[in-house]
Amino acid sequence: MAILTLYSADLDDPLLSDARVAGCLNAAERTRADRYARPDLARRFVAGRVIMRHVLARVLGVPPADVAITHNAWGRPELAGGPFFNLSHAGRSALFAIDELAPVGVDIEIDDPAAEQGWFDAILSARERAEFDAGRPAASTLLRLWVRKEAIVKAIGRGFSIAPAALDVGLREVDVHKWRPIEIDANGVSCSPVLIDLPGHEIAALARIGPASAHIVHKCYFWNGLVAQ
Ligand SMILES: CC(C)(COP(=O)(O)OP(=O)(O)OC[C@H]1O[C@@H](n2cnc3c(N)ncnc32)[C@H](O)[C@@H]1OP(=O)(O)O)[C@@H](O)C(=O)NCCC(=O)NCCS
Repeated sequence: MAILTLYSADLDDPLLSDARVAGCLNAAERTRADRYARPDLARRFVAGRVIMRHVLARVLGVPPADVAITHNAWGRPELAGGPFFNLSHAGRSALFAIDELAPVGVDIEIDDPAAEQGWFDAILSARERAEFDAGRPAASTLLRLWVRKEAIVKAIGRGFSIAPAALDVGLREVDVHKWRPIEIDANGVSCSPVLIDLPGHEIAALARIGPASAHIVHKCYFWNGLVAQ
């Protein structure tokens, strides 16, 4: 297996939530799916867990139903003994990252140039606030800042129990093909993840608690088992 593999998938592929395929979910996952008031959200949750279980099953060499997913205190799905992985969904789009050596976090958002900008006030560090005031960035630039921060807190595993304004990531456009080091010293967490913006139609970022991965393999996940570059 390559060190870091990234799968993109369409959660609305009907085969991903077909009852026979979704039979690999455990009781807790089925209960969670049943709690969604909206059927489309329930279906997408199921599809995400199907992708997670099937990719991990292939790596571990066990049936998807036997992948022993646990959750940390902040709700992150994990596997004792690895590999490390993380899932993100936005609408019908999903990204799933899997890494044999280091914790990873991924976040995807649908680009929305008309997004309300007011809520970004609460997520800016002091340096980002200065950049914001100097340039009045577009909504998509602010969304990109958001996915960078979310990828980092997901790689750490604590989600937004870490205040987003405590992370200093930077608003500026960077080369999407380059990892960059970030220093985190916030809310009792001190670490040095690396971060990369991901190219594509949506806005997405990937963080890794370890050195930059030399090679990211991008694949598309289809239920029929075909994985296309
Ligand atoms: C992690 C978090 C940022 C994800 O936000 P979101 O808007 O649902 O965004 P995404 O679609 O990108 O990610 C969801 C996926 O991230 C994963 N995830 C959940 N909690 C996570 C965490 N703490 N760290 C990393 N990944 C996490 C799950 O796979 C989840 O999808 P699934 O449940 O359908 O499998 C947000 O849920 C959060 O801040 N959680 C922590 C809150 C907390 O402190 N909880 C404590 C009690 S459980």
